[in-house]
Amino acid sequence: MGKDVIIACDFSSKEATLAFLDQFSGKKPYVKIGMELFYAEGPAIVREIKARGHQIFLDLKLHDIPNTVKKAMAVLSGLDVDMVNLHAAGTRAMMEGALEGVTRPDGTRPLVIAVTQLTSTSQERMQEELLISAPIDETVIHYAANAAKAGLDGVVCSPMEAGKVHQVCGEKFLTVTPGIRFADGDKGDQVRVTTPAQAKEIGSDYIVVGRPITAAADPVAAYERCVREFVD
Ligand code: C5P
Repeated sequence: MGKDVIIACDFSSKEATLAFLDQFSGKKPYVKIGMELFYAEGPAIVREIKARGHQIFLDLKLHDIPNTVKKAMAVLSGLDVDMVNLHAAGTRAMMEGALEGVTRPDGTRPLVIAVTQLTSTSQERMQEELLISAPIDETVIHYAANAAKAGLDGVVCSPMEAGKVHQVCGEKFLTVTPGIRFADGDKGDQVRVTTPAQAKEIGSDYIVVGRPITAAADPVAAYERCVREFVD
């Protein structure tokens, strides 16, 4: 599996998204579509970006009873996306249901990636609100191991966790890592960040990059810099 840079297209409309992608004349970066854009524009935006030749990570983070997730995944798989995700907290039965639902009649399927603990969840909130007393790092690795046992392809995690996830779940288990910033860039609201080059060194398989590309004065140059640091 080749390393790649995924651009988080966190835009609120089709117009803004397509205007952004138009700047990449000829190039077809891997694109992440999240809840904001999907809920605003519906499945049509996925079909349109796919028809333009991009690979798509549809980041909808499913979490429901196994049967519902299985059926929802079957619908998403019909959109011909390349990567989808769900919450590992939904249990192994839910993850197995998802895999069953997402597999197309010809046996192909998008990559299925699990969210372990959201980076917005702190140790304190986990203990007080969710009554989970294990250390957060242990929870992340435990959820990743559950995802691997369920047959999933990988997890979304911090690049800083990528090495440990590979150690526990195997080198082929994918780590998809947001929280990427250039060494000379603005951190914004991300706390634990790494550069594309550091993410490569630690062993991330895909980096997910939003504002360092989308808010750059020259987004195409920023994307190419990510590719140079992470892939080449
Ligand atoms: O703009 P920025 O590079 O911070 O965007 C990162 C993207 O990755 C956003 O779409 C954000 O929602 C997503 N993400 C994240 N941290 C996670 C999971 C997803 O930043 N733990």
